[in-house]
Amino acid sequence: MTFDRILFLESMTNSELKHKLNSNSPVIAPSMLKCDFGNLHREIELLEAAGAHVLHWDVMDGHFVPNLSYGAMLIERVRSLTSLAFDAHLMISHPEKYIDDYIKAGCDSITIHIEAVANPSEILKHLNQSGVLPGLAISPQTPLKAVEPYLDQCGMVLVMSVEPGFGGQSFIESSIQKIKQLKSMIPADTILSVDGGIALDTIAETAGAGANYFVVGSAIFDQADYSTAVSELAAKAGSQTASST
Ligand code: DX5
Ligand code: ZN
Repeated sequence: MTFDRILFLESMTNSELKHKLNSNSPVIAPSMLKCDFGNLHREIELLEAAGAHVLHWDVMDGHFVPNLSYGAMLIERVRSLTSLAFDAHLMISHPEKYIDDYIKAGCDSITIHIEAVANPSEILKHLNQSGVLPGLAISPQTPLKAVEPYLDQCGMVLVMSVEPGFGGQSFIESSIQKIKQLKSMIPADTILSVDGGIALDTIAETAGAGANYFVVGSAIFDQADYSTAVSELAAKAGSQTASST
């Protein structure tokens, strides 16, 4: 673990992380699912240089979603390579069995799926007590009333705007209405994240609806220049946020 990383961990409380992410709004969070794993260290350096504030780690178990990605062991190894915040998106069944592995791996925020647990309260509470920003994700087919009872326990809520499991899918248009409605249900400082199909032609509309944190895979990693991609996405999101407030 680097000295910077130790400082980062020691100095940043849960609410400070939330504040940091909110004050950097709009946050562009590259989805590492789409990165070149043959050059992972280089990819992280390029994302740092591009001005990303956080790396989004999509964890898939081949059970909750029909795809398999990577787990806590990989995240833990990569943790020391950067002081960027780590945001884990757990698309896994029984997250309660594995959550401590991701806390130990050094994730700053951890999001579980409402569809994966009968009652997320204990997990959200445990994350909070562990100094990790607790997040709850909701898949396209799930109504908002499923997450409503737990919103006060969340530092972040994540609206899936594609079916979870794969990068490179098309944005589901009905997500806009869901984001708008969710925005009216959450405290002002709760981060509202949108994940899936976010690109230059979809990001502004999601920002206008109330999202302030944008998970982006293809629209960064399929581009030759990550800096241009990140800044153009942030500019599009920022202009819409500014004009809508
Ligand atoms: C999908 C993941 C997303 C995905 C985003 O299950 O949660 O983070 O990798 O990739 P794009 O931006 O290509 O939709
Ligand atoms: Zn994700």
